[in-house]
Amino acid sequence: MKSTTISHLHQWKASGYKFATLTAYDFSFARLFANEGIRVMLIGDSLGMTIQGHKSTLQVTVTDIAYHTAAVRRGAPQALLMADLPFMSYATPEQTFESAAQLMRAGANMVKLEGGEWLAETIRMLTERAVPVCGHLGLTPQSVNIFGGYKVQGRDEAATERLLADALVLEASGAQLIVLECVPVSLALRITQALKIPVIGIGAGNVTDGQILVMYDAFGITSGHIPKFAKNFLEQTGNINSAIRHYIAEVETGTYPANEHSFQ
Ligand code: KIV
Repeated sequence: MKSTTISHLHQWKASGYKFATLTAYDFSFARLFANEGIRVMLIGDSLGMTIQGHKSTLQVTVTDIAYHTAAVRRGAPQALLMADLPFMSYATPEQTFESAAQLMRAGANMVKLEGGEWLAETIRMLTERAVPVCGHLGLTPQSVNIFGGYKVQGRDEAATERLLADALVLEASGAQLIVLECVPVSLALRITQALKIPVIGIGAGNVTDGQILVMYDAFGITSGHIPKFAKNFLEQTGNINSAIRHYIAEVETGTYPANEHSFQ
């Protein structure tokens, strides 16, 4: 199979094909995911919680993400890899360039950063310098201390309009993809329809162009609070390979996420 590129994602959106993506952090799972048909993977700063055991993503460094990105790249040479710019690694232009360079050199195809309109200039500077960008809106975990917890976003009229406006600004600034986390389905639909670029949802209903799950949530081995949008595909299948195939099929058909995994 040929390498997956951002153009594929844009074609998938245009054709209405709903695509499944996963977080990946290591060689072995990346290889297994790629073999089962996952063509887009995120080396997410969720690794601060899932791998490192922290309570939030704030402890994660660029070096951590680069280390895991290199391992995932070895396991999935043809996948499109998104790597998270972690907390405070894109606070100044110099820092942003250095952080993005480290992740791209490790094997990422694009970087993801969390936030709205205030990131417009950062996104423009990165894309002008040949670093493709994925935006991340809604529940952005790096802002947990501002939000006062991991809460659904975009609940009232003002927040809805702000998120829609943010999404349009990110697209206009050059972002090629958006991750939309924990927002009501009606808002996810508005954003997905308003944007030309693909929207990947998590806790945003089955109306987005693609889905992403933290891999541990897909296998039911998340410790502590289990998010409403999580589904244990291992429970229904009994083996990891089959769980991944079910996840892909359920995303493609829109069966997952169901109403019970979504916010109204
Ligand atoms: O860090 C991560 O894994 C993420 C996903 C939850 C989208 O950002």
